[in-house]
Amino acid sequence: MAERSGLFVTFEGGEGAGKSTQIRRLADVLRRRGHDVLMTREPGGSPGAEAVRHVLLSGAAEEFGVRMEAMLFAAARNDHVEEVIRPALESGAIVLCDRFIDSSRVYQGVTGNLEADFIEALQRVAIDGVVPDCTLILDLPAEVGLKRARKRGGSDAPDRFEREEIETHEKRREAYLEIAEADPARCHVVNAERSEDAIADEIFKVVEPLVRELGFARASSAESVG
Ligand code: TYD
Repeated sequence: MAERSGLFVTFEGGEGAGKSTQIRRLADVLRRRGHDVLMTREPGGSPGAEAVRHVLLSGAAEEFGVRMEAMLFAAARNDHVEEVIRPALESGAIVLCDRFIDSSRVYQGVTGNLEADFIEALQRVAIDGVVPDCTLILDLPAEVGLKRARKRGGSDAPDRFEREEIETHEKRREAYLEIAEADPARCHVVNAERSEDAIADEIFKVVEPLVRELGFARASSAESVG
């Protein structure tokens, strides 16, 4: 198997935290600096996973239970990892992904009441070693996020997961903060109640050193080859 030489950054958080805006902004900055950037999202990101996305977000799988949904998220993730993310990382790209394993830990694990061991076993199979180098958790009170998500939604009806109660959204926020506390080397909590510019600056400060390390790693492997 080829070595991974890219950088894998995931974005997490509740509804309306501004993940997609911030991913776009980070991608623009990195591209302007000459990096090869791939923006992607979950559930979805590959043709197989996009097919499963529809089943999950429409609520079509809801009646079969949260265990079934968790397995479908994992199946979609595995297709996305093997078809898109791993090849991009092997080619040296910076991959920016809207939601990944922590969404399953929070939505299916914590608020879906599935055992942590079951979720972790699914993740091991789904990602097969493709762990994010860095995860940005966009944090804001559930009420603020939901209001923003509804405004942004326009004519879109809320999806299966957005329809849930405010307490559920607040529980998810707490769960994300616990994940961050347990894995501080990978996770960074970003206060998403501030202006778009302030959030983008903080994200860039977190990611820039990792991108620089990537440059050093490439330079030294080029030296050892040449
Ligand atoms: P999406 O429309 O992509 O919205 P968002 O802007 O909130 O990311 O919807 C994805 C929904 O799927 C979201 O409500 C979270 C949920 N989800 C899970 O429950 N588990 C998962 O593993 C993933 C990736 C997403």
